[in-house]
Amino acid sequence: MSQFDVTPPTAVVVLAAGQGTRMKSTLPKVLHRVAGRSLLGHVLSSAEPLNAANTIVVVGHGRELVAEELSAIAPTATTAVQTEQNGTGHAVAVALESAPTVTGGSVLVLAGDTPLLTSQDLQNLIAVHAGAGATILTARLANPFGYGRIVRDTDATVSAIVEERDATDEQRAIDEVNSGVYVFDLELLRDALTKIGTSNSQGEQYLTDVIGVLRDAGHVVRAVETAEAHILGVNDRRQLATAGAVLRERINDSWMLAGVTMVDPTSVWIDSTVTVEPDAVILPNVLLTGSTTIAAGAHIGPDSSLNNTAVGPDASVVRTTATDAVIGAKATVGPYTYLRPGTVLETGAKAGGFVEMKNAHLGEGAKVPHLSYVGDATIGEGTNIGAATVFVNYDGVAKHHTTIGSHVRVGSDSMLVAPITIGDGAYTAAGSVITDDVPAGAMAVARARQRNILDWVVRRRPGSKSAQAAVADSTHTNGSGEGA
Ligand code: UD1
Ligand code: CA
Repeated sequence: MSQFDVTPPTAVVVLAAGQGTRMKSTLPKVLHRVAGRSLLGHVLSSAEPLNAANTIVVVGHGRELVAEELSAIAPTATTAVQTEQNGTGHAVAVALESAPTVTGGSVLVLAGDTPLLTSQDLQNLIAVHAGAGATILTARLANPFGYGRIVRDTDATVSAIVEERDATDEQRAIDEVNSGVYVFDLELLRDALTKIGTSNSQGEQYLTDVIGVLRDAGHVVRAVETAEAHILGVNDRRQLATAGAVLRERINDSWMLAGVTMVDPTSVWIDSTVTVEPDAVILPNVLLTGSTTIAAGAHIGPDSSLNNTAVGPDASVVRTTATDAVIGAKATVGPYTYLRPGTVLETGAKAGGFVEMKNAHLGEGAKVPHLSYVGDATIGEGTNIGAATVFVNYDGVAKHHTTIGSHVRVGSDSMLVAPITIGDGAYTAAGSVITDDVPAGAMAVARARQRNILDWVVRRRPGSKSAQAAVADSTHTNGSGEGA
């Protein structure tokens, strides 16, 4: 992401101590995920390009879990523990008290449950803030119910934020609301937080009361509007789904504008952690998650889920589930194919219909076209594995490896009982159970010889349709019955 040219805030404070009761979840609200990141992860990533020197996350409910997530996604962030949730003002005070050496400049305050904020919103907020005591990110809502209302002066500066429960009827009619995102002069905020009380309907210390304190001391408070969709706070699972849908549309729009074809973007779900190159084509019902990358010219879908999977240029992946796999350039996969962790298909390799692979390396142009299980295997270039072959990798206790050379032809319906090695250019006969190594260039046959018991049907199923058909067949030999 590009670096913005606004002065970095001295600190970013993220409020994430609340329980999120309406989620009805054992998981802290800010750890619920959409588009491949936790809600908290989205908030932190929106602030990341601002390059703040300090990030402080206020934690309370489920704080061990939140701290664990932070160590994975933002290891330089610090946490401040708010043991009792005495309000948003109290939460910010706890954050600033935890960092007494962080002084001067500005502080950006965010809530941990607003995943739709953009870096551009924050940049605008900071740009407008210059010289003010505080600046608030706001939006005009068709239904402002529940939000704090922005009371503006005749000169358009803000005189107060009034919470829904504490508002007069006239104030409730205001459609401009507080997003819960602000930038403050850091020292003025520290001082103002000591002056807010708890005389409101919830008996809490409201961060919003800081606005009045700053105004009374003669400081300017500004507001910057953004779109309604950017300030959505997730309080319940319906809003979680709404946030997911907004992110899906944003992510898909940005890939389409970057040159990716999507036949039906409403059915394509791409995590914000995925990359897709121009001229990739994504068909309906596709999920791309985790660290998945799709190279130029690849065709994905329909009906495919790829997780942490790298797809090479011009590869084709149809009706496939893959996780932790590498699909090389021009490789073809599907339909109805399951690639499990450790699968690597080199250039032009094929994993065809109803094929499952795990920890399998297919060399250049190697093919497993039909109905096979390939587990724990290395397969050389140009080798063909016949239909319905099973790599018998598990003896009930341990997994074993199969190594197959290049340009090998494994006959259909073979069982390759690991550990074994099949040399370059070798063949195996269809229906073989291969339990020993096969030397290069050999034909391995490991099956019982066929015998035909002549006239068995005529004798043992007399009068049946089968017997009548047999007798009527001109090639039928009225024999003595081999081995009868
Ligand atoms: C707050 C604002 C309101 C604004 C709305 C936007 C106040 C008093 N009101 O209301 O003007 O329109 O956000 O969504 O600030 N939190 C803590 N510790 C606490 C209390 C809250 O960490 O003691 C965290 C919550 O986990 C949450 C955030 O602060 O992430 C906002 O708190 P919440 O109780 O949801 O505030 P609202 O009532 O929504
Ligand atoms: Ca809220």
